[in-house]
Amino acid sequence: MWNYLSLLLLLSLLQVSSERKDTSGCPKACVCDNRKRSVLCQNRNLTKVPAAIPEMTRKLDLQGNVFKVIPPRVFQTLSYLTHLDLQNCQLKQIEKGTFTGLPYLAHLNLASNNISVLHKGALDGLLLLRRLVLEHNQLKEIQPGTFSQLPYLNLLSLAHNSLRHLPDMTFRGLVSAWWLRLSHNALSDLAPESLAALPHLRRLSLDHNKLQDLPWEALSHLYGLAHLDLGHNPLTHLGKEEGLALPELRYLALDGASLQTIDVGAFSHCPQLYTVDLRDNQLKTLPSLQGLDRLHKLNLSGNPLRCDCAARPLWDWASRNWVTMDGLCEEPRLLRGEALESLREEDLRCQGPRDGEEEQEPTGAPGEDKAAKPCPSACTCSALSHHSSCENKGLMLIPSGFPNTTQLLDLNWNKFTSVPQFSFPNLSSLVSLHLQHCKITRLAPGALTGLDQLIYLYLSDNQISELSAAALQGVPRLRYLYLDRNYFTRVPRDILWALPRLVHLHLEQNALQHLALRDLAAGENLHWLHLSGNNISDIFPGSAQNLEGLYLGSNRLQAVPTAALEGLPVLRELELSGNPLGILQEGAFMPVAKSLQHLYLNNTGLQQISPGAFAGLEPGLRSLYLEKNQLQTLPAMDDFIQLEVINLSENPLHCDCKLFQLHRWLASQKLPGEATCEFPPSAQGQKVKEATAIFEACLGKKVPLTSQHEAKNTLGQRSQWMPAVAGGYNGRSRSSHRP
Ligand SMILES: *[C@@H]1O[C@H](CO)[C@@H](O)[C@H](O)[C@H]1NC(C)=O
Ligand SMILES: *[C@@H]1O[C@H](CO)[C@@H](O)[C@H](O)[C@H]1NC(C)=O
Ligand SMILES: *[C@@H]1O[C@H](CO)[C@@H](O)[C@H](O)[C@H]1NC(C)=O
Ligand SMILES: *[C@@H]1O[C@H](CO)[C@@H](O)[C@H](O)[C@H]1NC(C)=O
Ligand SMILES: *[C@@H]1O[C@H](CO)[C@@H](O)[C@H](O)[C@H]1NC(C)=O
Ligand SMILES: *[C@@H]1O[C@H](CO)[C@@H](O)[C@H](O)[C@H]1NC(C)=O
Ligand SMILES: *[C@@H]1O[C@H](CO)[C@@H](O)[C@H](O)[C@H]1NC(C)=O
Ligand SMILES: *[C@@H]1O[C@H](CO)[C@@H](O)[C@H](O)[C@H]1NC(C)=O
Repeated sequence: MWNYLSLLLLLSLLQVSSERKDTSGCPKACVCDNRKRSVLCQNRNLTKVPAAIPEMTRKLDLQGNVFKVIPPRVFQTLSYLTHLDLQNCQLKQIEKGTFTGLPYLAHLNLASNNISVLHKGALDGLLLLRRLVLEHNQLKEIQPGTFSQLPYLNLLSLAHNSLRHLPDMTFRGLVSAWWLRLSHNALSDLAPESLAALPHLRRLSLDHNKLQDLPWEALSHLYGLAHLDLGHNPLTHLGKEEGLALPELRYLALDGASLQTIDVGAFSHCPQLYTVDLRDNQLKTLPSLQGLDRLHKLNLSGNPLRCDCAARPLWDWASRNWVTMDGLCEEPRLLRGEALESLREEDLRCQGPRDGEEEQEPTGAPGEDKAAKPCPSACTCSALSHHSSCENKGLMLIPSGFPNTTQLLDLNWNKFTSVPQFSFPNLSSLVSLHLQHCKITRLAPGALTGLDQLIYLYLSDNQISELSAAALQGVPRLRYLYLDRNYFTRVPRDILWALPRLVHLHLEQNALQHLALRDLAAGENLHWLHLSGNNISDIFPGSAQNLEGLYLGSNRLQAVPTAALEGLPVLRELELSGNPLGILQEGAFMPVAKSLQHLYLNNTGLQQISPGAFAGLEPGLRSLYLEKNQLQTLPAMDDFIQLEVINLSENPLHCDCKLFQLHRWLASQKLPGEATCEFPPSAQGQKVKEATAIFEACLGKKVPLTSQHEAKNTLGQRSQWMPAVAGGYNGRSRSSHRP
């Protein structure tokens, strides 16, 4: 008896070891192909990885079983394995050591499991892995270091998971990765360094996520990226200040993204772009995409294009550059359904006032269905784009009953006159709310309650003169607020307390008399303040620690507000165009000299720029707009080492030896923009940089200006502080504020 048992034991042991050694054996549940060295055990309801897999196996297909867990080291003996398929095996997690002993594994497929956690070290040992598929799992987060031991991985797919956030350095170690798929997750937040350390990434798929802003900081690490898919994210606006800077990008998809506006220059730092897909957005116009000389395809189909004079710059640019541009006109009615590309230049006109032209329009624009889902009568609600609209329906009351998935609600051109409490129930997904041209005078306290996700609020072209913090309670995420063309006489400072995340505030074309910077104190995140076209004559000091752009064009400032600039430590862009400045004081920009990059002084009646006026700006200034002034000469600019744009057009420049240094500098710089001689008559109309004949004469003499120091003296003798001459101010007369 003992012997028999011993023998049995011995035999079974022998059998196991011989099975392991025998390359021609095959586990019972599987099909083996010895020539291809493959073992297929798909859909066998196996609960354990079969033990007797031939050691020489290269391909092992185990998909469609019910392993749930894979104990460590099960694959240890299969050291020749190159392909392992574990799709659809109800795996819940991957433990450390699961793939130990697989030095040649190149393809690992873990798709369609229930993996919610990838433990650190779970993928260690897969030194030659090239392709890792983790699609259709339930990953909510990725631990830093998870991919740190995969130096040859080319493709990583994490599509169709539940990722919400990517922390810094998520993909550290993937030094060979060229395609990263993150489509169909719930990403709303990419940390600034989350995509760092991916030196070879060429393609990134971020479509079907919840990005409300372009993750431009994270993307800025991807110097070599050629293909970027950002479609189907709730992006509504692309600004140039948050623009993409991807020098190698050729293909950009932004389809189905609820885009309404795109700024000029939003793509200008992607010079290689060849295709831009903007299908199925809400774009009515698009600026010309100047600078994208290689662009070949621009798909605008599914946008409600307005084919009037606003479309001209784009149309001009596209036809000059042979760009294929798909997109049909929605407005004006006469051109509805026409392809923008097929129109002639003269079709793109602007006619009389908008009110006259618009009437009650038949509903049923493409992509919108009124059926089935809830939607207030008179409105259209698209399930596809999550947009609802009751634009220009003559409504006196704000309707309710929109689908609760609505992300964009367009209520423009109605007659609400006020916005009562709780006007927008059950709209917790709303990102963008449009209430322009609605004759609104008042927002009641709590008017916006419940709009937790709101980011854009458009209240332009109404009659609002005051706005309390209580009226803006309940929209904690708001970042863009448009109050232009209303009746404000002062900055509604209280609202900044209610809107801690506000970044952009638009108050153009109101009736502000002054700006007190201390009113901005609560706007911790306020970066851009638009105040053009008001009646501002004074700026009182205060501090706005994060203000990067201050736009004061077409106001009534009579001098650069130097003292007030003290409180703006990070100001990058300052617009003073169209103010009657007349002169620039010495050191006018000194308080912001360290940070200022763009300065607009066009059309300010400038007669003279004293040599010290720009003191401090030399190392950092990148653009300087001086067009439409009365300048006859200019101090030497040689020290402005970063300048990319200087506009001197429409100035009566005197091309004599005092301008020699400017001539030499312009000739050496290749800067765009024209500076033209007005005097002497022999040089009139010539470009300063090309008027060599005039300036050659200066070479014979002692060169009059050889350093800026000398320049100061020479010019200083004439008139450093020459006052503005009456009539020098050439500002365009502002149209009256209101009807
Ligand atoms: C696996 O289980 C399912 C459901 O229990 C059954 O329908 C199927 O026939 C089984 N497949 C095999 C190969 O046993
Ligand atoms: C696994 O995930 C699927 C959907 O992906 C789900 O239907 C199933 O209930 C999950 N199973 C377990 C055991 O969690
Ligand atoms: C633009 O998109 C439409 C709709 O998807 C498609 O039919 C058309 O071929 C596209 N055009 C280009 C130039 O890719
Ligand atoms: C909001 O939704 C709730 C439940 O989904 C419903 O009972 C209520 O009537 C809705 N309110 C409005 C104003 O539609
Ligand atoms: C929208 O309403 C449906 C049913 O009316 C509900 O199941 C769903 O949770 C709601 N969604 C949101 C985001 O409120
Ligand atoms: C602008 O301000 C001046 C006083 O500074 C005032 O006389 C004028 O009426 C104001 N204009 C408008 C349009 O508010
Ligand atoms: C100043 O120049 C900028 C850029 O060219 C332009 O957008 C703006 O309208 C000009 N402002 C005035 C008042 O001319
Ligand atoms: C310079 O200003 C003129 C007049 O406003 C304008 O036409 C031109 O485009 C500007 N050039 C640059 C380079 O900004």
